[in-house]
Order: sequence, then structure tokens, then C-alpha cells
Amino acid sequence: MTVSSWIANWAGLVPAGATVLDIAAGKGRHTRFFAGRDHRVTAVDRDVSSLPAAADIEIIAADLEDGSPWPLAGRTFGAVVVTNYLHRPLFPRLFDALQPGGILLYETFMAGNEHFGKPSRPEFLLKDGELLELVRGRFSVIAYEARTISEPKMAMVQRIAARLL
Ligand SMILES: C[S@@+](CC[C@H](N)C(=O)[O-])C[C@H]1O[C@@H](n2cnc3c(N)ncnc32)[C@H](O)[C@@H]1O
Repeated sequence: MTVSSWIANWAGLVPAGATVLDIAAGKGRHTRFFAGRDHRVTAVDRDVSSLPAAADIEIIAADLEDGSPWPLAGRTFGAVVVTNYLHRPLFPRLFDALQPGGILLYETFMAGNEHFGKPSRPEFLLKDGELLELVRGRFSVIAYEARTISEPKMAMVQRIAARLL
């Protein structure tokens, strides 16, 4: 399971011992990665069947889009990680789930990806500059990219590493 190069490059921003929230964690490539760096990780997905059971990993099965109550009410984390997932109504929840100074690592597909395949529907593709607009005034942006990548496959992605002010 290959870790996103963006996540690997910026994982060092997450302070030692900080808790990490992996949203739409999938098979848990970043859950495992951060657990391997001695972080306690909470992994949320509607399908948790492939997530690893471990003492430092909390697994929460939840549908994040069907109007169910937010499964992390009242909880905050040292970092929030999201890759290859976009459900715009969640952004306020994700930001509120960060502790002051917490790190947001977000990477997903953006407009232009339809030329390479799926996802191709606008609701699954960030608009030009969208992540920057979302964090403006609330986060200090450490790194941002909007570009074509060739690994693990050709895709147009947008990605950000930012610290909550
Ligand atoms: C493309 S995968 C990305 C997985 C992981 N973040 C990664 O990059 O390896 C998208 C994930 O979003 C999850 N997902 C999709 N819709 C969801 C929903 N409504 N609630 C919770 N998880 C959802 C899927 O189950 C899947 O694991």
C-alpha cells in the first residue's frame, strides 16, 4: 500500500505524540503510516473491513454523507488527513476537529482530472484554488500544489499542508 508522496513529505509537520484523524481512510494506508510513526490514529470510513486492528488505532464505521450525526462530536486532533475523498459539506467539521496549531494534510483530485479518467464528476473534483480559498484567514499555508501527477497514475490533484492559526 503506497503512501501518498504528499503525505510522506509533510508528515513531519505533525508533532510527535499528536493524535491523527484519517477521514475516509479506505484500506488505511495513511492510518498505518501514522501509527507507524507512533501517533494514535482515528480512522473513519463507511467500510472499515480493511482497516487494521491495533492498540493505537481507533476504527469508526460511519457514513459521512447520509446525514448521520458527526461521529467525532466534541473531539479534536493534532492533525487531520484526507486523501482521494471530497464531500464539501464536511469541511467545517474537519476544521473544527483540529486543535489550535493542528495540521491539515489534504490531497484529492481537481478539475482537469476528467481528462485522465475517474473521478470526473464536478462534485468529486476540487475547483481551481479551492483548498487555498477554504483555508484563507484560518490556516497558515505551508505548502500547496495544483498539478498533474504520474504516480500512482496520471491524475490532476490539488494538495495542501496547512497549520490552524
Ligand atoms: C478513493 S478511497 C480513498 C481511501 C484513502 N483515503 C486513500 O487515499 O487510500 C475513498 C474512500 O472514501 C470512503 N467513502 C466514500 N463515501 C463515504 C461516505 N459516505 N462515508 C464514509 N466514507 C466514505 C470509501 O469507503 C473509500 O474508502
